[in-house]
Amino acid sequence: MSLVFRTLLFGFVTLLAVVLIIDDIAEVEKETPKAAARVDPTALTRLSKGLNHPSSSYNNTAGLPPNNWTFNKTLSNLIRKNILRFLDPERDISILKGTLKPGAIIHYVFDPHSTTNVSENLYRLLPTASPMKNQHHRRCAIVGNSGILLNSSCGPDIDSHDFVIRCNLAPVEDYSLDVGRRTNLVTMNPSVVQRAFQDLVSDEWRDRFLQRLQSLSGSVLWIPAFMAKGGEERVEWALRLILSHTVDVRTAVPSLRLLHAVRGYWLTNNVHIKRPTTGLLMYTMATRFCEEIHLYGFWPFRHDPQGRPVKYHYYDALKYEYTSSSSPHTMPLEFRTLSALHRQGALRLHTGTCG
Ligand SMILES: *[C@@H]1O[C@H](CO)[C@@H](O)[C@H](O)[C@H]1NC(C)=O
Ligand SMILES: *[C@@H]1O[C@H](CO)[C@@H](O)[C@H](O)[C@H]1NC(C)=O
Ligand SMILES: *[C@@H]1O[C@H](CO)[C@@H](O)[C@H](O)[C@H]1NC(C)=O
Ligand SMILES: *[C@@H]1O[C@H](CO)[C@@H](O)[C@H](O)[C@H]1NC(C)=O
Ligand SMILES: *[C@@H]1O[C@H](CO)[C@@H](O)[C@H](O)[C@H]1NC(C)=O
Repeated sequence: MSLVFRTLLFGFVTLLAVVLIIDDIAEVEKETPKAAARVDPTALTRLSKGLNHPSSSYNNTAGLPPNNWTFNKTLSNLIRKNILRFLDPERDISILKGTLKPGAIIHYVFDPHSTTNVSENLYRLLPTASPMKNQHHRRCAIVGNSGILLNSSCGPDIDSHDFVIRCNLAPVEDYSLDVGRRTNLVTMNPSVVQRAFQDLVSDEWRDRFLQRLQSLSGSVLWIPAFMAKGGEERVEWALRLILSHTVDVRTAVPSLRLLHAVRGYWLTNNVHIKRPTTGLLMYTMATRFCEEIHLYGFWPFRHDPQGRPVKYHYYDALKYEYTSSSSPHTMPLEFRTLSALHRQGALRLHTGTCG
């Protein structure tokens, strides 16, 4: 090895080490709001304005998203570019088969001291290529689960999009006039199996769950299996049903870095989100695949702008919990963030009725 080459190599390795250390420090600093406030926001400079009034109520004087919305393609492209500096949604949307083996030990994202093993079934259902590879859509809808959708007549509007994302296996059949039916990607937190399908205690519940899975024909089923401990069994039941009944879904399991990357992106834009909701995760990822993004059913308030009560979910009796200190989500903050982006034309937030 020539001296010059060795010197160069040494220089490179040193530089790499320094970069990694700085990166590590930045990661730690991002955890504290004070440090994050110092980070130079790259885009969305106006975003943080007006976001810091803690208020869980919402009314007309707070400035409802105006109806004269126009899409700002320049801004939308800028956001996509900035998000790509933190994560590549095409890659981070799912762990791929080639990257681990059955039995591999995984540390949970939120409970890093707890581990689980990659089961044989999970391994079998991991995709070999990203389920969103080379997908680009002009108009996408992300459907949140707020009761604001009830009586909205937004079903046909939602279904008119090129790609429709839904959250937490929310039912569509009995609500299609208001929420539509089309589903290209749907998320499933392990807790849904318990909450909406009684942990499959009887054949009846098992059949109901199976039917819901079968109705997804061809969609991507996105299962955050490694976020929090406690859901392994429920994930396993779902996977077993999918395999034994050859259910036509394309399963995806988010990468272990996705959540930190999404949080990092919002933190550098001065939005201090501890644990992003599925809705915000989906918006952040959809910027990669979609030009125009329309959000429906995002409304974390107990009343609509006219003061009428709004159910937490359009389909069940779950109560609002986000205001309690135990809730990990900061939905009103997320909503204000999305409202600001709506006003700037980066996305469109639909909160009223359609048609
Ligand atoms: C509307 O919201 C603002 C800010 O949260 C609050 O100051 C105001 O009192 C509210 N108005 C009504 C009529 O509730
Ligand atoms: C939309 O309406 C709001 C008030 O209703 C107004 O302040 C704003 O300038 C309008 N924006 C456009 C692009 O027309
Ligand atoms: C669109 O967004 C860009 C970047 O934020 C901004 O410079 C431009 O003025 C916006 N265009 C309109 C029409 O609002
Ligand atoms: C995980 O795998 C290790 C090593 O293969 C094994 O010893 C352990 O029992 C497994 N744990 C579970 C929960 O299956
Ligand atoms: C929807 O409309 C029906 C019929 O008008 C009414 O009975 C029901 O209370 C409405 N639901 C909501 C959540 O507004």
